[in-house]
Order: sequence, then C-alpha cells, then structure tokens
Amino acid sequence: MSDVVSGAEIDAQPAPKTQPKPHVDADGYAQMYAASVTDPDAFWGEHGQRIDWIKPFTKVKNTSFEPGNIDIRWFEDGTLNAAANCIDRHLATRGDQTAIIWEPDDPNTTESLHITYADLHRSVSKMANVLKGLGVEKGDRVVIYLPMIPEAAYAMLACARIGAIHSIVFAGFSPDALGARINGCDAKLLITADFAPRGGRQTPLKSNADTALAACKDSVQCLVVKRTGGEVTWTDRDHDCNALMEAASDDCPAEEMNAEDPLFILYTSGSTGQPKGVVHTTGGYMVYASMTHQYTFDYHEGDVFWCTADVGWVTGHSYIVYGPLANGATTIMFEGVPTYPDAGRFWEVCAKHKVNQFYTAPTAIRALMGAGNEWVEKHDLSDLRVLGSVGEPINPEAWNWYNEVVGKGNCPIVDTFWQTETGGHMLTPLPGATDLKPGAAQQPFFGVQPVVLEPTSGEIIDGNGVEGVLCMKDSWPGQMRTVWGDHERFEKTYFSDYKGYYFSGDGCRRDEDGDYWITGRVDDVINVSGHRMGTAEVESALVAHAKVAESAVVGYPHDVKGQGIYAYVTLMNGEEPSDALRKELETWVRSEIGPIAKPDLIQWAPGLPKTRSGKIMRRILRKIAEDDFGALGDTSTLADPSVVDDLIANRMNRA
Ligand code: WT7
Repeated sequence: MSDVVSGAEIDAQPAPKTQPKPHVDADGYAQMYAASVTDPDAFWGEHGQRIDWIKPFTKVKNTSFEPGNIDIRWFEDGTLNAAANCIDRHLATRGDQTAIIWEPDDPNTTESLHITYADLHRSVSKMANVLKGLGVEKGDRVVIYLPMIPEAAYAMLACARIGAIHSIVFAGFSPDALGARINGCDAKLLITADFAPRGGRQTPLKSNADTALAACKDSVQCLVVKRTGGEVTWTDRDHDCNALMEAASDDCPAEEMNAEDPLFILYTSGSTGQPKGVVHTTGGYMVYASMTHQYTFDYHEGDVFWCTADVGWVTGHSYIVYGPLANGATTIMFEGVPTYPDAGRFWEVCAKHKVNQFYTAPTAIRALMGAGNEWVEKHDLSDLRVLGSVGEPINPEAWNWYNEVVGKGNCPIVDTFWQTETGGHMLTPLPGATDLKPGAAQQPFFGVQPVVLEPTSGEIIDGNGVEGVLCMKDSWPGQMRTVWGDHERFEKTYFSDYKGYYFSGDGCRRDEDGDYWITGRVDDVINVSGHRMGTAEVESALVAHAKVAESAVVGYPHDVKGQGIYAYVTLMNGEEPSDALRKELETWVRSEIGPIAKPDLIQWAPGLPKTRSGKIMRRILRKIAEDDFGALGDTSTLADPSVVDDLIANRMNRA
C-alpha cells in the first residue's frame, strides 16, 4: 500500500530543483563587509576586476565629502566601455545565449522575443552607427523616450558604445516634462516611438515628442522607432529608425571611455524646484551595478532574472540593463503592467520564462494581493528562488503575502533600499546570509557605511535601538558624481544639511540587532507607487493654472500606492469650487507633469495655514491630510488660526 501512495506522490511532485549554494553566508558577508570598509582600496581594487578594462586602473578611490570640495572619483585612470562589458565580452562564451527576453504588453496579439548576445551585438552596433550618422559624438546627450521595447536597451547601449550620454525620460511623462529634460541637458537627439502600448491602452509618444520639441532648439533631431505602426505626423527633423538600422553596418568599434566619463543622466525629483539631472559615470557605476546584481539577488550563471521596472527609472538602468547584462544574465524586459490582461500576468510570465529572481515594487505586490491568491496559484512558480522589493517601505502584510503565496516560504525576500543617486543597492538583506525581518532593509551592502544622525544637531547617534536621519559616512563606487550642469546644487542638496556626510533624505531606525528600517522621507519628497515626486513640482503645476491662486501639496497614507497626493488649492478671487473644476485641475496636472502626478484628493482651501512671516506650515497640512488633526502640535505661530478649523471641517480623507 505504502508503495502505491509513494508512487502517486512521486508523480505529483515536481522533480526537486538543485539549488545553487549562495555566494555568501552570514560569516562570509561579515568578513567581506569588514574588508570593504577597513580597506576600500584593496577591496574595490579586487572587485573592480569584475569589469573588463581597456586600460587597467592604478588608482581606486579618490573621494571627498569635504564642504566646498565635493569630489568623487573611482578607478579614475582606468578606461573601459560599458556596452562592451554588457555585450562583446560575452560573445565568445555565450553568443547564442538569450540576453534579453522581451515580453509584450498583450500576450494574445504579440509573441515574446528571445534576443541572444550575438543579436544584441548586431542591433546595438547598428543603432550606434545610426546615431553616428546623425552626428552624435562622444559626450553628446541623447534623450530616450521609448516604450519598454528592445530598442530602448539598444538605444542605451548604442549611446554607451559611442560614448554619448543617455538620459531616459519615462514614457508616462508629459510633453512639458520631456521638453524640460531635453533642454536641461541640451540634447542633440531624441529617440522615441510612434506609440507606447501599456495595459491595453496606447500613449501617443511621437505626438508628445512633437509637442515637446516645439519648445526645443530646431537643431534637435528625432529618431522614430516603429512599435505599433499607428499613424504619426512626420516632420523635417524626424528620421526612421527601422529603415536606418536596416541599412546601417553592424560593425561599430566601442569607444574607449575614462572611468569618470558620464554614462547617463537621469532626472529625479527633489524637495525644491525643477528635477535634477543625476549624473552617473562609467567605471564605478558598472562595477557597483554588476556586483549588487550578483550578490543581492544571489544571481548564478544561467539564471533568468526579471526586474519589472521601466528603464525610465534607475531600477531599470541598473537591474534590467547594466547589472544583469554585465553579468551575462538573461534579463526580462516587460512592456506591460501587472494587471493586464488579468491579475495573473506577473505569475504567468514567471512561469512561462522560468524566472529565478523576481524584483518588483510593494505597490504592485499590494495590488496583486488584493486581487486574490487564485491568480498566483494558477501558475507554476517553482523556478523562483529569490524575491526582491524596491521603491518604498514594504508593509509586513504585503511582505508575508509575497513570502507565503508567491515564494511558498522558500524564497528569501530582499528588501532593497537605494536611490537614483546611489546607482545600486545601499541596504539590503543577502539571500542565505541574512535572517530576514519583514519590512526592514537590514544591512549595508559591501562598502556602504550608514550612520544615523540626530536630525537637528547632526550628531552621530551610536549604538542600537536608535532613530534619526540616514546618512553615508563615505563614498561607494555607484554614487552619483554631480548634478548635470550644477555642481553647487549637488553639494547643497546632499552635503550641506549634515556636513561631511551624504544625506539620503530618508529617516531610519537601527534596531536592537543593528538592522536598518527606513521610516520614509524627511523632506518634501513623496513616494507614490514607488515613484518619487516633489511636492513643489505638483504645486507649481497647480499654480500655473489660471484659476489657482495658491496651492500646497502633501502626501497621505494610501492603501495601494503607499502615499497618495493630497492638494490644498486656493482659487483666484471670483472662481467657484466645483467638481468640474476639480476634474479640470486633475487633467491639468496630468498634462503638465504626467499621470503619476495626478492629485488623488483636492481640497478647496479658502486659506493656507501660515506663520506670521508667511511660511506655509506643512506639518499641519500633513496632519489634516492624514486625518490625524487631534495632534496638530504647536499652532501658536499661526497668523490666522481659524484657517485650520476650516481645513479640518472640510478635510477629504476620512476614516
Ligand atoms: C527613495 C528613492 C532606486 C529605487 C527606486 C526608487 C524610497 C527606495 C526603498 C526601500 C524604503 C525605499 C526612499 C528613497 N525607497 N527603496 N526598500 N524601503 N524606502 O528610487 O525614485 O530615487 O527614490 O525611495 O525614500 O529615498 P528613487
């Protein structure tokens, strides 16, 4: 009898998968970490060898966080090419291996594509020759505004191949935002597509690009990729990417770049004014992106890696393109959204391509958790080994669901804390080395030296069981080098509140075991669905509307998005609040910045709470938006306390 039962069981059980031994265990992590901070030159001198150098570096670290002299250089006398590291060096050993699996928005109408390293080499070389043909030279800026299609990766790598600096603008951004970024870095060329399919809908990228380019110099060229074949208008500055690539040679030597030559610019929101152009350079970034990709995800040869981000964000730069490809991985590029055609899409793709490491954002996890377990259970997820989370703190409920329902309790979750500015992971558990705690980013990656500072005095708080602002004591190779065109702003934003340290903008707690927990931004930056948004940007979009006199924007807790956007709006004299006007303002902000900036709640405010010197008291506005007005704190400095009573009475977010 027992034979029969065990026979049936053997049939029902999938064959046990062999699990590779993790790269490090707890002791290994401790030893490597200690080495990385006691002798960074030796540590990074050794790990810098993971990248192929044309001329080897002889200097490793040369960095200063000293006020007035913020200067960050790594491997400064080495030369290399990032694209050659992602492609050429793999050709001899894995030319026929899939480099990129492209998964389309609609699996029912479009096939996925498997692009080998040899294919990638051909397409990138062709695109690089197209760029050269359009006059793009080493050091020139190229803005990329594309859907998640292979051409987006080709464009990035083609720029890297010829030494041009790419700046990707997320395809969800508006024409205004795109135009500002093209002008901000004085780009020579824009690469776009006809349309961007996403979640069954289409964004008219080319038409957005035309609107954006109307505000740019006539000399800016536009290279247009065909994605849907939908109809677009054609202007004098446009070039047909598909036709030019077909005609182009597939031989394009990789330019020899200095380690500190810029690889890309990526605009990101801050607490004040216009988005900043974060500059990453070539050598340190490549070493750091590839090393974090290997260790954080415990990546092993042959694994299929899927990061669900868009290349419009830094996550896509480091963990769809540069990190995985530098490591010779198979990386998935996904055009769609988690819920299209249905809420099982992520899991269907994981099963279809036998994904080993899956990396997504808490907002997606929460949305899919809400859709029900049956969507997950329908699919075979037995190849999953490591799960990742990024972009915002993950609440324990979502963590547990991710762990139990998706990971079946077998896949370590790496909750990776980092930023556009940091190039790669800063705090994260490592699979096999860290005892996991739901909701904690836990431990510094190699070379990262976090400190907790007392927010007002800026004094270091030693010991465990403490809370304060999160800073970094010293540089790491993936650190941003400057703000494009404004080194002063770089120093002012990151090195002036706490002299001698890099200030993350986040608060954190170091618990009794020395594990780090991110408690959220301490500046006027909010985090909406893992996307960073400056409240000042939304405010300036709102006041640009003719009927708006004044506005103040704050974040409030949102079940799925993490934070929602709450806007207090004071109308011009004579304008009447109405639902129609509310819609009008929502549409306005969408068109000024993009759909991700649309306010979730708009409250009509006859006045805003201000101090006698005219400063808006945001602390109070945050409390009211959180529906926590019992704890407004000190209101004695208000110029007109009655304003607050009105705001409380008409608050929009009620439990
Ligand atoms: C901000 C950076 C590069 C990652 C994508 C977002 C928040 C990011 C976590 C995490 C808690 C996180 C921080 C940070 N953040 N990851 N694992 N736990 N908070 O990059 O747009 O530059 O935003 O995202 O507040 O400062 P970003």
